[in-house]
Amino acid sequence: NKVVLAYSGGLDTSVIVPWLRENYGCEVVCFTADVGQGISELEGLEAKAKASGACQLVVKDLTQEFVKDYVYPCLRAGAVYERKYLLGTSMARPVIAKAMVDVAKEVGADAVAHGCTGKGNDQVRFELTFFSLNPDLQVEWDITGREDAIEYAKKHNVPVPVTKKSIYSRDRNLWHLSHEGDILEDPRNEPKKDMYMMAVDPEDAPNKPEYLEIGIVSGIPVSINGKELSPASLLSELNEIGGRHGIGRIDMVENRLVGMKSRGVYETPGGTILAAACRELESLTLDREAIQFKDTRALKYAELVYAGRWFDPLRESMDAFMENITKTTTGSVMLKLYKGSVIVASRKSPYSLYREDISSFESGQIYDQADAAGFIKLYGLPMRVRAMLVKEQGKK
Ligand code: ARG
Ligand code: SIN
Repeated sequence: NKVVLAYSGGLDTSVIVPWLRENYGCEVVCFTADVGQGISELEGLEAKAKASGACQLVVKDLTQEFVKDYVYPCLRAGAVYERKYLLGTSMARPVIAKAMVDVAKEVGADAVAHGCTGKGNDQVRFELTFFSLNPDLQVEWDITGREDAIEYAKKHNVPVPVTKKSIYSRDRNLWHLSHEGDILEDPRNEPKKDMYMMAVDPEDAPNKPEYLEIGIVSGIPVSINGKELSPASLLSELNEIGGRHGIGRIDMVENRLVGMKSRGVYETPGGTILAAACRELESLTLDREAIQFKDTRALKYAELVYAGRWFDPLRESMDAFMENITKTTTGSVMLKLYKGSVIVASRKSPYSLYREDISSFESGQIYDQADAAGFIKLYGLPMRVRAMLVKEQGKK
């Protein structure tokens, strides 16, 4: 039998390879997804995987799929977890786990394995995706947790990485970079300046602002300054521009699915720009009821994504709602980036519900100010009735 292992090349996933072979006597197929974590993480992987005892390494480039089918729907939904988190890791786990299920089928494996800890969200996200897509797959995890990884690696001739292991637990993809652990575990500590990798310190950002126009079609970004770009190139270009201006640093304490609180720092430069642009365009294209209702659903959507329920029919159905309600969210938003902030400069849409002839302070044809008097009387009727009661009873 065969098992497909989510493999990064790091020490932790490397020692799982001999462990699986030793304890299950199975062949190990290592799988690495390219979700935009950066080339250096992918270099020399095949040799390393084989040296650790894998029979094969499968690498899949999932960057376009990740941005198009996972990031953009979340963006369109306006999904933000606990007021701040733009869900970078949460969205990446299902696309990786789905690819693992596909690889398992391709290579004829009956099991999958990952190295996430049992304290985290990632384990839940991987496993819920496995369950949703193939109920027969066997799942192995955290199998070497109780042993000293370096000792175990040496004993089994697993190449131990020469580069010093980062003190932070990091997860990087095209949408974001997360930092957890070490000094961040005390919420009273300010992150160190040298921890950040995608966005410069706003203090060091250029003194001159930069204008940027984001083009959007039906709630999905399509262009920068009029230039149409594929999902992955659009995002990497925005990461570069936003990073330069110190955009998208997020420092928060969040509630993990498994109950504990955890402190994390995220860098989401491109995502922060896109979220601002989409939100802004909706101010033109959605009316009051639509915005208010959508915002309540966005909370739920974010919660489902955070909790690993990507392939839940509820999340999929809510996506149908999000797609429909943002059908006319088409147009462009001009943003000014300056020392860590995204400032909205202007917005326009062919489906704008804003009409100068109606909204103008001059009295117009369609909106007759005289109509307001009757409206306010009826609208305020309940307040008036209550006040009458208070007055009659002579008390508050
Ligand atoms: N706390 C974030 C989340 O749950 C980031 C997790 C990062 N994962 C990691 N293995 N370092 O989505
Ligand atoms: C971990 O790897 O345990 C931390 C990240 C998470 O899954 O929440």
